Amino acid sequence: MPFDQNGHLIPGKISPLLEVPQQIVRPPYVGLATPPAYQGDNTYTEDEIEKIRTSGRIASRAIDAVSEAIRPGVTTRELDRIAHDYVIAQGAYPSTLGYRGFPKSCCTSVNEVICHGIPDDTVLREGDLINIDITAYLDGYHGDLNRTFRVGEVSEEADLLIQRTEQALMRGIKAVAPGREVNVIGRVIETYAKRFGYGVVRDFTGHGVGAAFHTGLIIPHYDSAPSYNDVIKPGMVFTIEPMLTLGTHEWDMWEDGWTVTTRDKSLTAQFEHTIVVREQGVEILTLSE
Ligand code: MF3
Ligand code: CO
Ligand code: CO
Repeated sequence: MPFDQNGHLIPGKISPLLEVPQQIVRPPYVGLATPPAYQGDNTYTEDEIEKIRTSGRIASRAIDAVSEAIRPGVTTRELDRIAHDYVIAQGAYPSTLGYRGFPKSCCTSVNEVICHGIPDDTVLREGDLINIDITAYLDGYHGDLNRTFRVGEVSEEADLLIQRTEQALMRGIKAVAPGREVNVIGRVIETYAKRFGYGVVRDFTGHGVGAAFHTGLIIPHYDSAPSYNDVIKPGMVFTIEPMLTLGTHEWDMWEDGWTVTTRDKSLTAQFEHTIVVREQGVEILTLSE
């Protein structure tokens, strides 16, 4: 049912909202159509960075928990339930729930879905790819990451796409240094992706994160110079989250207003970390350990 005769994904049925215990503090945007404007900059004190790391660790461990349930036959709704239960068990809030009306506690993006797939009654099949994107909010700060997983055994080209997309993220991270412009990140990612002829998604980007889910700072994954010339500074926090495809970088959006697919329905993968800039290089804030 959630796949058509060509094996392409179609919208499934979205279940009712899951509850969050009353004592868990909600981010300020919950219940609003648009988040309140973010006033601060993108640099943080050590105390704040520690809080982003705590949220990032919760989100990463939530993905670990979800990943153990990924197999043929599981629904994306069941995966969302695991993410939701894990995050609230840590006393944190799953940042996507109620963000601009998003109805679930994680994004589950299958095969040709580039990003922002909504968990529903889709049943995963052997050979599918699935990205799990989780953001946790605790003590005023968000940590945001995603990873792409294989459902059972996948084709060699899908397997390589996953490996190289993760490698693209790691190369983007290594390109970060104080004094450089943020457009260096996308230059490195796009150059690497082009070696394999992959599409590099342009219209969805990395972003400043921390005191707000999306602070307004934009981190492209393609070579955008001379645009996006914000200078990287120690203490800055943002995500890098490249989306690579086996075909086009062009996309379509479903009528749900969220689900973004490749226009040619080619497979796509994504990996994301939240990082903090240091005097020398960077530190990843979204690790499980
Ligand atoms: N976590 C996603 C990101 O990496 C944002 C998801 S917003 C949602 O920026 F509303 F779609 F959940
Ligand atoms: Co993000
Ligand atoms: Co994310």
